Amino acid sequence: MVVWSPFRFNSGREMANRFAIAPLTTDSSHEDGTATENELEFVRRRAGSGFGATISSAAYVEQDGRSWQGIGATHDGHLPSLRLLAEAMRAAGGLAILQIYDGGRIAKPELIGEQCLRAPSAVASLRPGAKTPRAMTAGEVGELIKSFREAASLARKAGFDGVEIHGANHYAVHQFFSPRANHRVDNWGGTLSKRMNFPLAVAQAVRDALGAKLIAGFRVTPFESEPDGYTLDDSKLLCKELAKLGLDYISVSLDDYRKSRPVGETRVYDGPLEKSYTPAKSPITEFARVIAGRSAVMASGGIKTCIDAEGAINMGADLVAVGRAVVVDPEWLSKVRSKSEASILAGLPNDELEIARALSIPPRMVDYLLSRPGWIPRLPPTSRRPL
Ligand SMILES: Cc1cc2nc3c(=O)[nH]c(=O)nc-3n(C[C@H](O)[C@H](O)[C@H](O)COP(=O)(O)O)c2cc1C
Repeated sequence: MVVWSPFRFNSGREMANRFAIAPLTTDSSHEDGTATENELEFVRRRAGSGFGATISSAAYVEQDGRSWQGIGATHDGHLPSLRLLAEAMRAAGGLAILQIYDGGRIAKPELIGEQCLRAPSAVASLRPGAKTPRAMTAGEVGELIKSFREAASLARKAGFDGVEIHGANHYAVHQFFSPRANHRVDNWGGTLSKRMNFPLAVAQAVRDALGAKLIAGFRVTPFESEPDGYTLDDSKLLCKELAKLGLDYISVSLDDYRKSRPVGETRVYDGPLEKSYTPAKSPITEFARVIAGRSAVMASGGIKTCIDAEGAINMGADLVAVGRAVVVDPEWLSKVRSKSEASILAGLPNDELEIARALSIPPRMVDYLLSRPGWIPRLPPTSRRPL
């Protein structure tokens, strides 16, 4: 089966199988952006089940871009923590990839101070209670690109196998590409081609910092379901340009890959979804077609079984990233590999202490997971039945 076969990236690095742990923020780092032992254990246990690669929780590249209390990659002081993280991610010999991000307009005002909120344009996000950011100056945009470059250099020094640029899920790189969030009329906005400039500049900066022998990946939300958002045709053009830069992979971020359902900006998981635009074709198939083998395609969203993973590969993906299934069951991959899928845990247990203890989930992350109803599956009260 393809999912268990190795995969070689453009850079020459190899995954032993096609499964990656998707980037999973724990919201549990120290305030200075260093990793806590709890979150290292969260990663170590899951990576230990034999994933071909683990992608880290997103590390902030600038203090004012923090959207949660996570890891940082802003200065040499972060290097020891990044080294520990890379080591935990390699618990079973898989590749360690550092995801890097900036929150832009969805940085957390409680963390950074409301007056520090900055974004491509002074347009508030659709999230309930969102504050209006100030528009970044052209100088600040240039600085942010440098910060991504610096974060990639730190990843290289810390011994990671590569870096994934978080260009998805409504964070700053996504915001520059979005006509809803980016109303600029300079080099960074105004037309589709100018809205591509920031993502492409970040990708080039990261590639320059890493050199040709480390993995450079880019995560993209393939279309916006919100009114007046960018379309799949728009993001196909972006991916084509990213592939021309020789990126190793493009990761397609969906909440559910089978339904082509993206992550909404409001992050409401238990209400009706925005449905103003839905593409006729699968983003995975369409990306694979335009990328044409120049970069790998990684699929994600709702992969819970081996059949789900094979389904994504059959649509044109080379690799799959698994998120919530691995949060809920740290031994998910071992169970899939040994064909014991019937014993996979289907949801978080009811008791919060048990979630933390039995599943090696940091207590702050437990609160984070439970803060959005409908996001993470739960078992019915007093039940720990497998699937
Ligand atoms: C707790 C949690 C934290 C997440 N943190 C990140 C993150 O830091 N970066 C990112 O690109 N996606 C993040 N995601 C999204 C996942 O990587 C994944 O794309 C999403 O959950 C859909 O895949 P799944 O159905 O396998 O979970 C997070 C998801 C969860 C559940």
